[in-house]
Amino acid sequence: PETGCLSIIVLGASGDLAKKKTFPALFHLYCQGFLPPDEVHIFGYARTKISDDDLRNRIRGYLVNDRSASPSEDVSKFLQLIQYVSGSYDGAQGFQLLDKEITKHEISKSSQEGSSRRLFYLALPPSVYPSVCRMIRKYCMNKSDLGGWTRIVVEKPFGKDLDSAEQLSSQIGELFDEPQIYRIDHYLGKELVQNLLVLRFANRFFLPLWNRDNIDNVQIVFREDFGTEGRGGYFDEYGIIRDIIQNHLLQVLCLVAMEKPVSLKPEHIRDEKVKVLQSVLPIKDEEVVLGQYEGYRDDPTVPNHSNTPTFATVILRIHNERWEGVPFILKAGKALNSRKAEIRVQFKDVPGDIFKCQKQGRNEFVIRLQPSEAMYMKLTVKQPGLEMSTVQSELDLSYRQRYQGVTIPEAYERLILDTIRGDQQHFVRRDELKAAWEIFTPLLHRIDNGEMKPIPYRTGSRGPAEADELSAKAGYVQTHGY
Ligand code: BG6
Repeated sequence: PETGCLSIIVLGASGDLAKKKTFPALFHLYCQGFLPPDEVHIFGYARTKISDDDLRNRIRGYLVNDRSASPSEDVSKFLQLIQYVSGSYDGAQGFQLLDKEITKHEISKSSQEGSSRRLFYLALPPSVYPSVCRMIRKYCMNKSDLGGWTRIVVEKPFGKDLDSAEQLSSQIGELFDEPQIYRIDHYLGKELVQNLLVLRFANRFFLPLWNRDNIDNVQIVFREDFGTEGRGGYFDEYGIIRDIIQNHLLQVLCLVAMEKPVSLKPEHIRDEKVKVLQSVLPIKDEEVVLGQYEGYRDDPTVPNHSNTPTFATVILRIHNERWEGVPFILKAGKALNSRKAEIRVQFKDVPGDIFKCQKQGRNEFVIRLQPSEAMYMKLTVKQPGLEMSTVQSELDLSYRQRYQGVTIPEAYERLILDTIRGDQQHFVRRDELKAAWEIFTPLLHRIDNGEMKPIPYRTGSRGPAEADELSAKAGYVQTHGY
């Protein structure tokens, strides 16, 4: 591993994302020894004029150490690594000051052999990305003679449609090279999402079955049992397709559908993902169901006549040799009856069935991303007993049982460590992002123009009944009672 000074700068330090995700992830990395105090310093940067201790106190409540026996001691030591700098997002002064503070820290650690590394984490709204990137480029780049790097981490939403995303990409692209830019999609940091490549390409079981000859349909589902909760203003501008489907679920789809990469090198993996995205056919209106939960517009930050979907089912079709004719049903919704994210790969019926068992359900391979990570195969077995009858059962790998005592890292923790290590495998490349927007932009424009309306659904329900009808029409046979 690289050594030398590492400065992690969290911009937007007093915001929600930083408090809830970024700092806790850094804390976990610290507790596991990935951020040695003799090398690492953390800077919080934001507009609010507060002191170092104010920031530390704001973060403190979010730091939970589930892995160490002495949490409070760890928390205090970690907080001491954090320093606050205040300044605007578009003025020279703040960034000059920030650079001065980073350099001061680098000099103080100059007994360390090695280079200086600067990681800028933009926990900020994308509207300020261009100006912040300009300021970093101008004032805060690593200048060490011993080498090192400057990297920036950005969060979605990267734009609102193809044009705005491309504009944002070129603005940032003029300032930083692609290997310096880390576009986070936190779903790529989830344990079972990372497992998809292994499952698919390291198991003989799946190799011959993973295609249109055997698979009838694939469902990728995200459900939340709460609404927009204080984020109505943000959410209403984006809606569920931009918030979840165009990024998180589409990334999962890529990993389910892609061909085997030449190697595990990040570029090889991302090349294959781009090919999948480019093979997706235009979405048909009749293969979309939109919903909006009743009560969504009661949020004072949501306009009274909002047309924004909080639920959507969209069928994607991949036009290639492996997947022609197999619907990929992407479904996401807020304020539903449960919180769950899963992939359901449903196999075709057995031809010439002599057991008449189809009614009990099909073979299905389910990968549950959360909660309680698991994967299980639904299969037909003989009902134990004297009769020759069949029943549907499960081969079950539940992580909690199988990997007792193993803590599964949080997505952000893993991804931040990757940014420090310079591994871009689990980050979205610019051409991937573009291809993802190409798929959804026509549909999003129709929704934004009011040409497609969401169907109201009850909070705590499964979403609009029309969505289940659409899945059934696409071939999905429900064999479970969720
Ligand atoms: C975020 C969305 O990207 O993902 C949120 O903006 C959503 O609306 C969240 O709640 C879900 O993440 P997770 O990891 O809890 O499934």
